[in-house]
Amino acid sequence: MTSTNDIRRSFLDHFAKEGHELVPSAPLVPHNDPTLMFVNAGMVPFKNVFTGLEKRPYSTATSSQKCVRAGGKHNDLDNVGYTARHHTFFEMLGNFSFGDYFKERAISLAWSLITGTWGIPADRLTVTVFHTDDEAFDLWKKIGMPESRIIRIPTSDNFWSMGDTGPCGPCSEIFYDHGAHIPGGPPGSPDEDGDRFVEIWNLVFMQYEQVDKETRIDLPRPSIDTGMGLERIAAVLQGVHDNYDTDTFKALIAASGELTRTATNGDFKASHRVIADHLRASGFLVADGVLPANEGRGYVLRRIMRRAMRHAHLLGAAEPLMHRLVPSLVAEMGAAYPELVRAQPLIEETLKLEETRFRQTLANGLRLLDEATGAMKPGDVLPGAVAFKLYDTFGFPYDLTEDALRAQDLGVDRSGFDAAMAEQKAAARAAWKGSGEKASDEVWFDIAEEFGGTEFTGYVSEEGDGQLLAIVKDGQRIAEAKAGDEVVLVTNQTPFYGESGGQMGDA
Ligand code: ALA
Repeated sequence: MTSTNDIRRSFLDHFAKEGHELVPSAPLVPHNDPTLMFVNAGMVPFKNVFTGLEKRPYSTATSSQKCVRAGGKHNDLDNVGYTARHHTFFEMLGNFSFGDYFKERAISLAWSLITGTWGIPADRLTVTVFHTDDEAFDLWKKIGMPESRIIRIPTSDNFWSMGDTGPCGPCSEIFYDHGAHIPGGPPGSPDEDGDRFVEIWNLVFMQYEQVDKETRIDLPRPSIDTGMGLERIAAVLQGVHDNYDTDTFKALIAASGELTRTATNGDFKASHRVIADHLRASGFLVADGVLPANEGRGYVLRRIMRRAMRHAHLLGAAEPLMHRLVPSLVAEMGAAYPELVRAQPLIEETLKLEETRFRQTLANGLRLLDEATGAMKPGDVLPGAVAFKLYDTFGFPYDLTEDALRAQDLGVDRSGFDAAMAEQKAAARAAWKGSGEKASDEVWFDIAEEFGGTEFTGYVSEEGDGQLLAIVKDGQRIAEAKAGDEVVLVTNQTPFYGESGGQMGDA
């Protein structure tokens, strides 16, 4: 069997041999894009190279990029554990051309890797093209795909964009057919959402830059961005249908089973999967400088950690579990990602502290939840006020409550939860107003409430881009500053440490 580590290596070797610069994965916290929570695609670190803003000494590159999709626009957290292919953390393999080659070479490089080096039978493959892209259609035909398996797709599925702004273009996706024994239809058919045809590679023909809602301009030169999920291709090449049955996941799941002395299939299957996935996300996020917090990226990390910790509790773990799994994670992935080895003590410490603290209230919270749901029937909805009490008193993030009720087929009233949260904030503000502090300070309350605070990124980098959220002059918010004004600029993230706990702020 080809290991996941070997597959990553052979992908990168294939493109390095073809003259691509081998670029190490960027950290999960994007420094070139303050609008993005985490890097969620291989092209993110190259965004400014595509648009011509940044110059690099190479015009083609390949990478295996760490990605997190939890929180923000792409959020897969709720599904993890219950499906074959959802992850909070995954690796995206990619090759990139910055104005060098375009469609023809991108298609032929992809084809030679999958059908040549990896020996995937061509008759297992189906491709899609954007409906108007005759050029891509003809190129696939030329390389040997029968017309019946080149499917034109008219929707945004085949027009990839990074976000509301940024580089974009039509794309061509390669699907692997896992076989007729699995339900599902080819892309574009009514039952395309089944598991039979799985997208393994997306080739994006980057041509445009979306500048704002109305304006789309041409990139300096047509470019290529591709993305292949390592976990999916590992499943294909290892002859399994489920990402969680590949070598890396099997090793992590086996470790979780051994430490908790529980069977890894059967009733506890989902819990082991959640633990394995969330261990990877937590480990890599901490290695990249994110620490559990009540806001921003740190809160996403906390939600991931606590969700795993509840599942550890379900498995009957009598002691904090997650930190004891870190050696397995490092054994599996440390060679490819040395930052994991360097950060191992910090990852273990962080997980241990978080789990130790959380365990103190977890059992009480679960008891409250049991009482509240005792008389409920499948399909019923837990009142938002109870979910809020679990959050406020027991540190249960909202999605943890949802996850806990899922097995009993119960829902949670989200709007009731939000209302309880708003009420508490209003009460805090009223109490503070009466405390006799300077009225002008209220502006900070307003800004914090509107934007949720500024995130500190200085543990990882001493520089970074931030998005300007507000300008304050003499205790008032102003729309625009004039030359000579002395103002405070509030950004969404900053490497400047704030003045707090008796410390001087960075200047
Ligand atoms: N950027 C493309 C994707 O994420 C390859 O699918």
